[in-house]
Order: sequence, then structure tokens, then C-alpha cells
Amino acid sequence: MKKFDFLVLGSGIAGLTFALRVAPRSSVAILTKKNRAESNTNYAQGGIASVTGKDDSFELHVRDTLEAGAGMCREDVVRAIVEEGPARIRDLIQLGMEFTESGARADDGSRVLDLTREGGHSRRRILHARDMTGHEIERTLLAAIARQPSIRIFENHMAIDLVTRHKLGQAGTNACLGAYVLDNETSQVEIFSARVTVLATGGCGKVYLYTTNPDIATGDGVAMAYRAGAPIANMEFIQFHPTCLYHPKAKSFLISEAVRGEGGVLKNLAGEEFMETVHPMKSLAPRDIVARAIDSEMKRSGADHVVLDITHKPAKEIIRRFPNIYQTCLRHGMDITREPIPVVPAAHYQCGGVVTDLNGATGLEGLYALGEVACTGLHGANRLASNSLLEALVCSHRAAEKILSSIPPENTGAIRAWQSGSAANADELVVVSHNWDEIRRLMWDYVGIVRTNKRLQRAQKRVANLQEEIHEYYWNFKVTPDLLELRNIATVAELIIRCALQRPESRGLHENLDHPRPDPQWACRDTVVRKIG
Ligand code: FAD
Ligand code: SIN
Repeated sequence: MKKFDFLVLGSGIAGLTFALRVAPRSSVAILTKKNRAESNTNYAQGGIASVTGKDDSFELHVRDTLEAGAGMCREDVVRAIVEEGPARIRDLIQLGMEFTESGARADDGSRVLDLTREGGHSRRRILHARDMTGHEIERTLLAAIARQPSIRIFENHMAIDLVTRHKLGQAGTNACLGAYVLDNETSQVEIFSARVTVLATGGCGKVYLYTTNPDIATGDGVAMAYRAGAPIANMEFIQFHPTCLYHPKAKSFLISEAVRGEGGVLKNLAGEEFMETVHPMKSLAPRDIVARAIDSEMKRSGADHVVLDITHKPAKEIIRRFPNIYQTCLRHGMDITREPIPVVPAAHYQCGGVVTDLNGATGLEGLYALGEVACTGLHGANRLASNSLLEALVCSHRAAEKILSSIPPENTGAIRAWQSGSAANADELVVVSHNWDEIRRLMWDYVGIVRTNKRLQRAQKRVANLQEEIHEYYWNFKVTPDLLELRNIATVAELIIRCALQRPESRGLHENLDHPRPDPQWACRDTVVRKIG
């Protein structure tokens, strides 16, 4: 058994920020499924929303967040996160983060950072590192982590399940004591025990057939927390990003909303600017509105994509501002300075998750959840663009401060070894990959941008059948990363559907044709699911 003060599951912005804050005084293990940089964070493009502009204010950022959140945000949480943003941005800069500069100088001679705009923002307030903000964040945080001898990173280590008192058959209040972890290189399951366990495992885009997320985003944290008995909320609010590159060879490549922030315009294949009549902010309306408008435009016209046109901007400007998007499209044979970019909506962000307070504390003693895996109340029914990196920074810092003010005692009890089937199964690969595809396709078809009661019920039945099959596999055969991820996406699919069925209205990202309008009685009412027994 490996013992640490802190066990951090995930090496994106949330896990790394937390680890850095607690490290000087404690031993920390960071576990990550693949290599240390592989995370949703690493692919973030647009930037981090925070009030730094002269024409901006906390009040405006709060108002934009509440408006995007469609009556479901917790205003106290929004206010706290927005107001703490600038201090956390300063921390990042102190660690060495290089944001793009505007070229101007402030009155005191200091360099002014460039601010971009994204959907739903009434001001330019997004700090960015051109169109590779996440890559620069990971670079900065990993470099700082490398300077901390009390932090150990375990790559290719996948947490399977949380160890809890109740699962060990111990009486008293339930609590998290650590995790069972699969070492992908040795195929051995190890026990990691800790005073505090932090879920920083990111989102669940891979539950859907089309997503902007990388392969690690299989909802493991939500699934593990659910199995351990922690409350999960608002999983029906899955955000579909309006503009994922539509190209048979481009896997999950995002075309940042900042492209629209810098003047890009959505058009249908007839060249019409269809957002003109949909919302006063046109192509820069909040994401739920744009994604639905694209979906309806595609259904109306029968086209399999729409286009995003930025060709009216000078080529030099486009290439300087969006080098990653420009080069990637060029590799796929498209010059975005000359031709419009084919785009479609794709699953992007999980607004719900493990219920936490502002400091990341969950409903389970000893367990914290930070970043995309958590549901703090900031995003409500639809996240405002670039608010998630901000939330991860602020809440991870707050969690660390809170926990350091009174570190829980060490676990002294024994933790029994992992038990599962030991047979390897030749059939497994084909069954696992078939079930993966089936879940992702049925979630896309039945639990996507537009839902109905009947489709949700149909999806629920199919997922339940698949779960029975997965359950049998899970207990009889040797666990593999693919099987573990399959089990987790099935659990997350179940939770999304259960939350969607609980909400008899359309609000924000949850559109149900059988309940086409928001119901005022459901404003600010979370859909909470919890495993009993
Ligand atoms: P992640 O960065 O996803 O990290 C999760 C970590 O957990 C990974 O290291 C993973 O390996 C690990 N992990 C997962 N499961 C396990 C397990 N079972 N065991 C061990 N480790 C595990 N947000 C913004 O605010 N601004 C943007 O510009 C922006 N752009 C985006 C662009 C793209 C293409 C995508 C996909 C997202 C974007 N987002 C953006 C959203 C934002 O990037 C994420 O919400 C945020 O990075 C999540 O950070 P995190 O630390 O919570 O999780
Ligand atoms: C983007 O660059 O469009 C993504 C921003 C976000 O998801 O917040």
C-alpha cells in the first residue's frame, strides 16, 4: 500500500493547482491515466475569463454568467469565483504563464495583456495564449510541479474506485480513505491511501459519439464518486460546443469560439448568416443558443454541417492570432484565410457533476472534487465560455487553503486488497469496443442537443441492458483500462439520462420537446442523484 497526505486524481489545471498549493507542507501523489500533460486542459483554446479590462467590472462578469446559466447559477458562488479571478491569474503569471500581450503599455509602463471575446460575454475579458491557452497552462504548472520534491506523479495509473469506510464494512460516518488504482504498465491493482483524496478527473465528453474532448474524458470521477455514495447533480446540462471541425480525418478538433469573438460569422451552405434572426448577439450568442440554432439549421436544410467564415479578416492577422487552428486546418487541406471552415456541434463540457461547496468539499468526508468533475453552482444550466479554467483555478486554491487550515488525521485502519476476477477473456476486446460504440451512438441520437421523453426512456432501457452485461464482465474477468472506462461511461450515461428525466422543462442546455418552455418552479432546483445502499 502506498501512503500519502494527499491523493490527487488528475493532472489537469485543477489537480496541478491543488497539488502545488498543498505541496510545501505535505506529501502528494498525483495519478494520471496517460502522460502527465494529457488532459482537457491541454487542449483549451479560447482562454480564461477574468475581469482585468478598464471597461469591465465584476458586476458585468457576474451578470453575463447568470444570464448564460439560465436561472440555475448560485449567485453567491458566481460572485466569489469572479471576484477571486484576478488574484489567481496573478498567481499563474508569477509561476511563469505567458499570456498573449496586446502590445500596449499601461500608465505605469507595464505590458497590457490582450483580451478576446467569446459567446455570451458583454466585454472583451478572456485572457489567452493565442489559441493554445491550455497547453501553456499545463507547461507552466508542470514546470512548477517539477520544482516540488514532495510531489510524485504516477503516469499511466488509472483510479478504479474510491476506498470508503462503508465499502470496507466499517461502521460510523462514511469517509473516503484513498483509491484502488490500476497500474497500466504492470496490470497490477494497487492501494493508494491518503488523508484527503481529490477528484480532479475532468469531464465526460467521450460518453457522446462526437466530442471535442480527448480520450481521457470518460467521466471516471463522477462514476467513482457516485459508486462511493456522493451526491451528483445536474448531469442533464451537457454543453455542446457549436463549432467542432467537420472533417473525416480530424478527430475532435475544436474551432475556438474566439474565432467568432474576433469576427468569424456562422453561415449555412447557401451563405446566409442564420444567427441574425436568432439572438441579438448573433454568432456570439451563448453557446446553448448557437448550438441549437446550428442543429436546427442542419435539420432544416438537410446539410451535414454549417460553416464559420473569417475570410474577411486580413490573412496575417488570422495566422498570428490562431496559429494552431490555421495549421491544423491547413494539414487537412483547408486554408481558413481563404475559405470558410466546415463546423458541427459536439459534446464539450459537463456542467453538472459531483456536488461540492466553493472549497471543493463533497458529501463524503475526506473526498474533494475540483474542476470539471465538480458541480459548484457556477455554471448553472449553461457554462459561460472560458469560465471553467477560472473555476478550476479559484476552487483548487480555496480547497487547498481550507484543508491546510485543519489537515485530517492519517488513516490507520487496514485496507483490504483489491478483489476481482482473474480470467483474461479473448472475447473481451470486441465486446468492449462494441458496447463503447453503442453507448456513445445512442447518447448522441437520443440524449443529444434536443431530447424527448420517449427518446430518453428508450436510451435508459438500452443503457440498463448494457450495464448488466458490463457488470458480468467486470466481476468475472481481469480489469483492463478499456473495460473500466466502459463501465464508467455507462454509469455517466445512466446519470445524464436520470437527471434529464427528472427535469420536466427546457432550460439552458436541456431541451425537451415534450416540455418546450422553462418552468419557473424548476429555476434553481438541482436534479440530484445518489446511489442508495
Ligand atoms: P482535465 O484537464 O480534463 O484533467 C483531467 C485529468 O484527470 C487528466 O490528467 C486525466 O488523465 C485524469 N484522469 C481522468 N480519469 C482518471 C482516472 N480514473 N485515474 C487517474 N487519472 C484520471 N475551458 C475554458 O475555460 N476555456 C477554454 O478556452 C476552454 N477550451 C477548451 C477546449 C477544448 C478542446 C476542451 C476539450 C475543453 C475546453 N475548455 C475550456 C474546458 C476546460 O479545458 C476543462 O473544463 C478544464 O481544462 C478541466 O480541467 P480539469 O483539471 O478539471 O480536468
Ligand atoms: C473555445 O475556445 O471555444 C472553448 C472555450 C470554452 O470552452 O470555454
